Amino acid sequence: MSLVSFTLNGEPVSVEADPLLRLLDLLREDLGLTGVKEGCGEGECGACSVLKDGKIVNSCLIPVATVAGCEIVTPEGLRDTDRGKCIVEAFAESGAVQCGFCTPGMMMATESLLRKNPDPSEAEVREGLSGNLCRCTGYDMIVRGVLLAAKKGRGLW
Ligand code: FES
Ligand code: FES
Repeated sequence: MSLVSFTLNGEPVSVEADPLLRLLDLLREDLGLTGVKEGCGEGECGACSVLKDGKIVNSCLIPVATVAGCEIVTPEGLRDTDRGKCIVEAFAESGAVQCGFCTPGMMMATESLLRKNPDPSEAEVREGLSGNLCRCTGYDMIVRGVLLAAKKGRGLW
């Protein structure tokens, strides 16, 4: 076990953990942040997406030791920001949520995309979501949701 310190949703945290523990397990099981989902556990589905120093990563692939000194944002941290609220509303308005399992990861992918490109084309949205799988929606409504978030949230990103 070792002490790992990082910033989590804007707050400093220090945890005693096995350095090889997956960040996903630390977040969900030790810290109760269950907005981070486990789908494949192999880096294929994006359900476990978080932001690490502003970049989207799969928390199922990241050992806890690698986040020391980093800034981690989970869906819980994004949700309460103006940008997070804009994404939630745009997804709801577009019918982008069916079972909802992929939604937290899709929100993180949206935040990551719009940070880099606040006015993406449809093709750029599809590319930006390409690391996140959805088994329900056929993607079109999620793509619409991202485009709507970009439009309604102009100036937020
Ligand atoms: S659970 Fe991490 S990518 Fe699927
Ligand atoms: S809404 Fe069910 S997996 Fe995407």
